[in-house]
Amino acid sequence: MANLGVNIDHVATLRQARGTLYPDPVDAAVLAQLGGADQITVHLREDRRHICDRDVRVLRQFLQIPLNLEMANTPEIVGIALEVKPDMVTLVPEKREERTTEGGLALRAQFESLHSTVLKLQEAAIPVSLFVEPSLEDMELSARMGARMVELHTGKYAELAGDAQKRELERIEKATAAANNLGLIVHAGHGLHYRNVRPIAQIPFMHDLNIGHSIIARAVLVGLERAVREMRDLVCK
Ligand code: PXP
Repeated sequence: MANLGVNIDHVATLRQARGTLYPDPVDAAVLAQLGGADQITVHLREDRRHICDRDVRVLRQFLQIPLNLEMANTPEIVGIALEVKPDMVTLVPEKREERTTEGGLALRAQFESLHSTVLKLQEAAIPVSLFVEPSLEDMELSARMGARMVELHTGKYAELAGDAQKRELERIEKATAAANNLGLIVHAGHGLHYRNVRPIAQIPFMHDLNIGHSIIARAVLVGLERAVREMRDLVCK
């Protein structure tokens, strides 16, 4: 079975919605750590719409489990990664107008610039994962780029159902086997939730799953009853 990386971006989304100091993603990371997370993932987006620089720096200082920094290949963010030195970096494509990361990296079109960033980060002892489509071509290009890891995009798998979902699962299984044969460590993520995660977690050589939205969404519901009780004690007693 795979390791669990917990993405806490959406705790920061809730904080930014009101410009408050709470909920603090650092508190969330500590609780995720207590809950058994193997790794914490945060995406420092160029527009800082959820996670901000301070979160990454404080997490780097206080986390006892590895920190995976998800980021776009831009000079500013690469500079921050080199300074903060997370345990690993996942390079992702980023578009201002998207609600969340929509697809894998354009490896062929951006080969030179991605290759140079992979080398720069790995020379600084920060292993790099590339967020890619589960295709054989992307596994080969990732290996040629010298990346240590790939993260397979499971967004399509999550959106499909029935036979179409089975076919996409097979594509992910084949890509995982090919990546493993090429010496790449394999991760997967995006859109995974409590009802669709098991077949992905059971793929041989699947090393880590990065999951965010469904865990934070569930935490809101399973924690709501206690939160109301605590406020009721303050208001009604
Ligand atoms: N992996 C990558 C590369 C992502 O961009 C995201 C979304 O930030 C995730 C995993 C987690 O996706 P989700 O929030 O849908 O679980």
